[in-house]
Amino acid sequence: MKKPQVFVTRKLTDEVVAMLETVATVDMWTPDYPIPRDLLLERTRHAHAVLAMLTERIDEELLTRAQQLRIVANMAVGYDNIDLAACKKHGVVVTNTPDVLTEATADLAFALLMATGRRLTEANRFLLNGEWTSWSPMLLAGQNIFGTTLGIIGMGRIGEAVASRAKGFGMRILYHNRNRKHKAEEETGAHWAELAALLQESDYVLLLTPLTEETRHLMGEREFSLMKETAVFINVSRGGTVDEAALYNALVEKRIWAAGLDVFQVEPVSLDNPLLRLPNVVALPHIGSATLQTRLDMARLAAANIVAVLNGKEPLTAL
Ligand code: DGY
Repeated sequence: MKKPQVFVTRKLTDEVVAMLETVATVDMWTPDYPIPRDLLLERTRHAHAVLAMLTERIDEELLTRAQQLRIVANMAVGYDNIDLAACKKHGVVVTNTPDVLTEATADLAFALLMATGRRLTEANRFLLNGEWTSWSPMLLAGQNIFGTTLGIIGMGRIGEAVASRAKGFGMRILYHNRNRKHKAEEETGAHWAELAALLQESDYVLLLTPLTEETRHLMGEREFSLMKETAVFINVSRGGTVDEAALYNALVEKRIWAAGLDVFQVEPVSLDNPLLRLPNVVALPHIGSATLQTRLDMARLAAANIVAVLNGKEPLTAL
C-alpha cells in the first residue's frame, strides 16, 4: 500500500525526518525562510499530515485543497496561525507542543524582564559606542527586581514557571487569569487579581496570554495608563495582544518606564517600527523557546503526533 505523505514546512533534523519516515514519505521545505503561500498550497495538496511552524497560515483555503489532510502538527505552543474551526469542519486534527517549551520560555521571559529592568542592552550599546568615560553615581541606573511585584497576565504553564523563578527573587506575585490556579498560589504565593488592580500594583507586568479574538489588543491606552510610571512591561506571548501605538505613546510620554518585547504585531518587525528607536525598549526576534534542546523536543513532539495519527492512534497533544 502507498505510504501517506507528510509535508514539513521547515528543515528539521535527520532524526525527526526518520521518525516521520517510519509511517510516511516526507517532503520538506528546506530553505530557512517561510515557504511562499502558493507553494505551501501546492505542496500540501496531497499531504496526509503537515508539520507546520507558526509562520504558516492553515486556513479554509488550504484545507479545502488538501483533501487528504488528517493532521496539522504545529511546532509551537501557540496556534493563532491555525483556523481551528475550519480544521474541525474538515475533520483535521490539530496538535501543538505544550510542556516541552515551558521552562525555556519561562527562562527567556525572566531574562527579558531582568535585561529590561536593568537596562542591559542599553548599557551594552553605551560601552560599545565608547561612551563609558567614568563611573558615575546614577549611570544606567535601572529598576530593582528583587522584592518587587510581578503581575502575570495569562497564568498557564509558562506563567507558573515564571512565578516559581520570581519567588526565588523575593517577588510578590499577582496574576490575572480566567480561572484560579490554586497549586501555583500554594507553591509561589501568587495572588489572583483583577486586571486593573494587577496593572496598578505591579512593578513588572508580564503578558503571556495566547492571542485570540478576546485578547487582541488586550493592552491598550487604558491599560498602559493604569500602570506605574516606574513599571516595566514585558511581552512574550504574541504581538497582536498589544496595541503597539498605545505602547509607544505610553513609553514616550513616560507613563511607563520600559518595555521588553520578544514578539511584535508584524514579524519580522520592520526596522521602521518606532518602538525599536526607543532606548528603553529591549527587542528580541521571537526567541522565547529557542534553546537547542527545546527546539529539538518541540520537533520530536510534533513528529510524534503525526506518527500517532497516521498509525490510527490518538495524538499526544491535541487541541
Ligand atoms: C510558541 O511555541 O508559540 C512560541 O511562540 C514559539 O516557540
